Amino acid sequence: MKDFGVRAASSADRAFLVDMLAAAVNWLPERNWPREQILADPALAHYVTGWMRHDDFGMVATEPAGRPVGAAWFRYLTAADPGYGYVSDDVPELTIGVVESWRGRGVGRALLRAVLDAARDRGIRTVSLSVERANVARRLYVAEGFRTVESFENADTMVAEIRA
Ligand SMILES: CC(C)(COP(=O)(O)OP(=O)(O)OC[C@H]1O[C@@H](n2cnc3c(N)ncnc32)[C@H](O)[C@@H]1OP(=O)(O)O)[C@@H](O)C(=O)NCCC(=O)NCCS
Repeated sequence: MKDFGVRAASSADRAFLVDMLAAAVNWLPERNWPREQILADPALAHYVTGWMRHDDFGMVATEPAGRPVGAAWFRYLTAADPGYGYVSDDVPELTIGVVESWRGRGVGRALLRAVLDAARDRGIRTVSLSVERANVARRLYVAEGFRTVESFENADTMVAEIRA
């Protein structure tokens, strides 16, 4: 039985999105960057700066009492200020994270599917992400239709085409 729900993200979710950005950055157990360090790094902070902009969209998973347990969101970044998974100005980039105690229970997959549905509803045809190659998240992305389009030393840029 599913013990979590999924809803659309709102501007009130900013602080939680920062937590989930930190979870995504700190996926390696030996990496433990504090929120302040992440928000002080423009290459990371720009995934949440000014949330929520008119073209931002995302989903939040909640436990039965309503507390958030995970989030997945898309943001458009530009050639002038590209994300790690930048492909083009009209291809939004994914960030996803699940609270540690909730991982491995289907929350990440449900969030990814829901945010891809939200992209489809907006008429978006292509989305992207960046994943460090050793991250198990990669398996989820491949299973949900992402393919590698560019490889760097430790990370891959992946895209998914969304069928109308
Ligand atoms: C990646 C993440 C969002 C996945 O969310 P989750 O709720 O744990 O994932 P799910 O339970 O929905 O599992 C989905 C798939 O992810 C993969 N996966 C998740 N945890 C895994 C693990 N410990 N080992 C191997 N594969 C794993 C599997 O392919 C799994 O599918 P399966 O259960 O059919 O094998 C979550 O683990 C997380 O927050 N990790 C830290 C942050 C992060 O790495 N973000 C992405 C940065 S690119």
